[in-house]
Amino acid sequence: MKVVSLFSGAGGLDLGFKMAGHDILWANDLYEDAVNTYRLNLGDHIVCEDISKIDPEDIPECDIIIGGFPCQGFSVANMKRHIGDERNELYKQLIRIINAKKPKFFLAENVKGLTNLAKGKVFEMILSDFTQLGYKVKSKVLNAADYGVPQTRQRVIIVGVRNDVDFEYEYPLPTHQKDGEGGLKRWVSVSNALSDLPDPDQPNDIPNHEYSKYKLEFNGYLGHRPLDPDKPAPTVTARGDNKGGVVILPHPNGQRRMSCRELASVQSFPVDYKFSGNRSSVYRQIGNAVPPLLGYAIANVFNEYKEV
Ligand SMILES: C[S@@+](CC[C@H](N)C(=O)[O-])C[C@H]1O[C@@H](n2cnc3c(N)ncnc32)[C@H](O)[C@@H]1O
Repeated sequence: MKVVSLFSGAGGLDLGFKMAGHDILWANDLYEDAVNTYRLNLGDHIVCEDISKIDPEDIPECDIIIGGFPCQGFSVANMKRHIGDERNELYKQLIRIINAKKPKFFLAENVKGLTNLAKGKVFEMILSDFTQLGYKVKSKVLNAADYGVPQTRQRVIIVGVRNDVDFEYEYPLPTHQKDGEGGLKRWVSVSNALSDLPDPDQPNDIPNHEYSKYKLEFNGYLGHRPLDPDKPAPTVTARGDNKGGVVILPHPNGQRRMSCRELASVQSFPVDYKFSGNRSSVYRQIGNAVPPLLGYAIANVFNEYKEV
């Protein structure tokens, strides 16, 4: 399928679509470091610009528009969540572009908290907006760990199929399960995911294998909880603490924070995926991403669509 990608960031979701064999024609983000990362790994088809300034005429025709619209305004973990947060309006940009291009499909990703904001009213409104564009819309919360990602990241995936298109999108079946029951593989643990990476304090040539020295004290707050090495990691986030820094998960050894590369591995990025920008920026790009393996699972379903 021909893909147009909005809010593409460092390209986690796009990498998943590429792994599933789809062709990304055009992408967009306004965050320069993320755009540079995208270019380094996925190609030059990304435009660095505020989406609200983009004329749909400049976007190529496509089969699907994908986009993880910015979620900060929606996140349950964001104490200051307000329905009126202007960042929530960014999904309307997605709607504007879908309305102008009318692709066969669209796929929007967001935090699970979007589904219960204002007792579900915001989510209802979003789904109804998408439906009114002429799409059959469905949504489901998926756990990245169920698809082999070493992280229990839950995200809502909204899929729209244009009313005249004869295709029923079936969410991908899990390949992994917490205890390996039902003939599925066991969830991948964080220690397993990091086992091939050398100690970042030893000489190595692994890209982005550097870590924040921000102090580690286990007090139960976000980013200050020990990790169980035998389980998938909790959600990698791009959220900041109250001083504006990004909250980084501790390494399961309890001695230091994870390096950017380790965090990228917890997000299932391949080890040769290079990130551009300073350390904080790289942590942020990684925390913002859709895990490529989850992206792959949801993208692969579209390979079942056969045009008649
Ligand atoms: C949740 S991240 C998307 C991550 C991406 N889907 C991935 O898998 O790596 C949201 C992105 O929206 C971008 N963004 C925010 N406001 C924007 C705007 N007005 N125009 C274009 N991009 C914007 C941010 O820079 C950020 O990279």
